[in-house]
Amino acid sequence: MDAQTILDVRDLKIDFHTEMGVTRAVDQVDFQLKKGRILGIAGESGCGKSVTALSIMRLLPKPVSRIVQGRIMFDGVNMVTLPINELHRIRGKKIAMIFQEPMTALNPVHGIGKQIMEVYRLHFPDFSPREMTTAAVRLLEKVGISDPHQVMKKYPHQLSGGMRQRVMIAMSLACEPQILIADEPTTALDVTVQAQILALIKDLQRTSGMSVILITHDLGVIAENCDDVVVMYAGRIAEKAPTTTLFKHPLHPYTKGLLTSIPSLAREPKTILPTIKGAVPSLLNMPEGCRFASRCPRVENICRKKVPQERRMDQNHTVACHLADA
Ligand SMILES: Nc1ncnc2c1ncn2[C@@H]1O[C@H](COP(=O)(O)OP(=O)(O)O)[C@@H](O)[C@H]1O
Ligand SMILES: [Mg+2]
Repeated sequence: MDAQTILDVRDLKIDFHTEMGVTRAVDQVDFQLKKGRILGIAGESGCGKSVTALSIMRLLPKPVSRIVQGRIMFDGVNMVTLPINELHRIRGKKIAMIFQEPMTALNPVHGIGKQIMEVYRLHFPDFSPREMTTAAVRLLEKVGISDPHQVMKKYPHQLSGGMRQRVMIAMSLACEPQILIADEPTTALDVTVQAQILALIKDLQRTSGMSVILITHDLGVIAENCDDVVVMYAGRIAEKAPTTTLFKHPLHPYTKGLLTSIPSLAREPKTILPTIKGAVPSLLNMPEGCRFASRCPRVENICRKKVPQERRMDQNHTVACHLADA
């Protein structure tokens, strides 16, 4: 693991045991998060973004899911095999996570102030109540809440979605984590609030120097906010590259398809957006070769027979496609 890498995920494989059988939701996933950078994980719903994120925090649902192979190296330790007491020293402190719907993560019966204080009580038991209040106020100011004392008196349902997400971000930052994992943090919000929350995350990243994993199904969000991007398809990585490279020079037919389906200002208003034909195959019934083969406009015989391995096309650009050429 080189000095620039803060999180190194190698050959991750995750199975779900369901009534229908065993499914491999994440297969051979391999990526590196660099210090002080924002890494985007993109892909359609169900492609394994959240499962990947939850595995980093060791929050996969038990007993239905299991990491069957791979390593997740952070700060010299493998998160996959870390004993639970050591895990508690990392989870929420050094690596924090925020989710799509803050309403489910906040406790509806307690006021915001009490919930933030609880974070301090848990992680900084030596703080006096006064120190906790001061720290909570400072934290809320940091996430752009101008009347923190008022907000602390409120209950989650009395706040807008955007405000609730700001509170969640504040709570996740209480311990000044080295990594923030944001799983579709703005999907439930309106477009203008979305932009504000993303700008906030970017700003906090810049001022704190932390590293961020930003998960989204929206490539527009990736283009505007991420330094690097991992494109996933049906549990596997299709393509990885710095964001500018990926947008200028996409190599995987799936990435190319996603890029043409982004709404563009240049496009005529009200024209129908191109979408990728067909649907993601079921994890219970995955084809033998490339998982994208059934939807791929360039499909050839080899694609249906052999799993494409990730190939390095350029220093930081990899693609898992038999037919891609640099
Ligand atoms: N609780 C669960 N039980 C069974 N299978 C699950 C469960 N959660 C996720 N999966 C499987 O893992 C796949 C990836 O899910 P997820 O990571 O949530 O996708 P997304 O990319 O939308 O975040 C799903 O398509 C599903 O097959
Ligand atoms: Mg998800």
